[in-house]
Amino acid sequence: MAKQEVELGPTGRPERVIPAPQKLDRHGPARIVAMCNQKGGVGKTTSTINLAAALARYGRRVLAVDFDPQGALSAGLGVPAHDVPTIYDLMLGKVKDPREAVQTTATPGLDVIPANIDLSAAEVHLVTEVAREQILAGVLRKLANDYDVILIDCQPSLGLLTVNALTASHGVLIPLACEYFALRGVALLVETVDKVRDRLNPALELDGILATMYDARTLHAREVLERVVDTFGDKVFDTVIGRTVKLPDAQIAAKPILDYAPSNAASEAYLKLARELVQRGVVA
Ligand SMILES: Nc1ncnc2c1ncn2[C@@H]1O[C@H](COP(=O)(O)OP(=O)(O)OP(=O)(O)O)[C@@H](O)[C@H]1O
Ligand SMILES: [Mg+2]
Repeated sequence: MAKQEVELGPTGRPERVIPAPQKLDRHGPARIVAMCNQKGGVGKTTSTINLAAALARYGRRVLAVDFDPQGALSAGLGVPAHDVPTIYDLMLGKVKDPREAVQTTATPGLDVIPANIDLSAAEVHLVTEVAREQILAGVLRKLANDYDVILIDCQPSLGLLTVNALTASHGVLIPLACEYFALRGVALLVETVDKVRDRLNPALELDGILATMYDARTLHAREVLERVVDTFGDKVFDTVIGRTVKLPDAQIAAKPILDYAPSNAASEAYLKLARELVQRGVVA
């Protein structure tokens, strides 16, 4: 009998169908995931927005935390970030109840805490605080029972804010763009994760590596992805995010890709990532 052809996915593993997650009949406490890579422009914010929307589509209650003074997450989800309470105000204790900073979005089940340029002053203000690495953890703890998942969109640095995000999180998800030098700096990031685990947050896990901006037509992207899989093995998600101009377009339109271009491959890719995270037990 002829052997059945197995179709291989971009990671070199067999393509498989990942079932839609079961409905949840109760919510919380949230699993907190830091979307982290100190390299700029690798798809952290894009992946936070669109993974958050995809998890919400599957009935999860999701909070996306903008933790970058650039405020790109807030803008990309169409929520105001000026003249409203932000994550900075919560970190500094200017606003005591974190719920006051939570904004709803056009996506049912998806809320946001915004950030703006004020947050760039936080590193300076927090340096002299007691337990300065644990401040975000203290803020998010008060919200954990309201959500199934909290995603933190980190800024491209390994400074005190990112250490706060890692200290507040159960897991780290590392978006990696499929370009040369993608792996450069990842060793330092993994070292930082290890240090935070040793010193501040013993339960911190590496949830996985997400390959982004993948263009299957170029040998270059295929080679980079192969190296990433060689280095990180099963930690690399089956789901790979392809390169498409619809993702920046959606960001400009201040909508998740699921609303902006539902039939685009990137919509299905982020839905698949949500299913894979549930299947891997990363989120409920
Ligand atoms: N899969 C993709 N295909 C094409 N463009 C993408 C893709 N993912 C993200 N982009 C675009 O690339 C740019 C950088 O992406 P994004 O802002 O998500 O990265 P980032 O890691 O959050 O950047 P920063 O480090 O500056 O915060 C944005 O213009 C975004 O729209
Ligand atoms: Mg960003």
